[in-house]
Amino acid sequence: MEVIYVKDYEEMSQKGFEQIKKVMETKESPVVSLNTGGTPKGLFQYLVEAINQGLDISDATIMSLDEYIGPKDAVYTVRNFMNQRLFNNIEQQPKHLFLMDGSTDDVESEIKRYKELLATYPRDIQLLGLGTNAHLGANEPGTPFDTTMFLAEHHESTIQSTMKEYGITREEAPTEMLTLGLKEIAEAETVLLLVSGKHKAQAVKDLVEGDVTPDCPASVLRNCENAVVIVDEDAASLLTKE
Ligand code: PGA
Repeated sequence: MEVIYVKDYEEMSQKGFEQIKKVMETKESPVVSLNTGGTPKGLFQYLVEAINQGLDISDATIMSLDEYIGPKDAVYTVRNFMNQRLFNNIEQQPKHLFLMDGSTDDVESEIKRYKELLATYPRDIQLLGLGTNAHLGANEPGTPFDTTMFLAEHHESTIQSTMKEYGITREEAPTEMLTLGLKEIAEAETVLLLVSGKHKAQAVKDLVEGDVTPDCPASVLRNCENAVVIVDEDAASLLTKE
């Protein structure tokens, strides 16, 4: 795992975007799996600008890390985020867009469908954010490292983060999510984790300096040579060594 230290959210977003851009520019049929939430908003802006200025995504496949269980048009869905922050803002569209369906009545079939896509379209890069409890996707603490795509229940801290991020009440907030498992996350050719903010500092400390253990799901990346973590100063503020 390589850790890159940057000043702030802006620099994290820019450096993260450069990694995505490199994949888009160098791979013949790039497969890019994105995430959502507060962390990648800046990266998405860079991506929109670049695509509108000619970055070619016509052979690209876009996938997603996870999806909340709920109506497709709910304010918190990954689908909604991707549309609002990316696809509605660009003329050129990717060759394939494969999102999970969190409105399905048949979770098992949806997992099977998406796993087949993962097998057919190996990801060149997987973008990630870090939970305040060090989760990746919806792999909450305690999830075994060899887990594959499943229906996860959120821990309370994750529900609170979703409520804050989308300005919704506890009753409105989703409590379950389809998510790639830690095994699949680590299997992407490059695994790119972006982290910004003081509220992530303990999770970063656990990730970088703590034990490699399912209690800290992100620590699965510690022994991954393909993992790049971009951390800003606030998120790195509890580290004893830099
Ligand atoms: P955030 O969420 O980007 O909104 O901070 C990250 C996460 O909880 O996975």
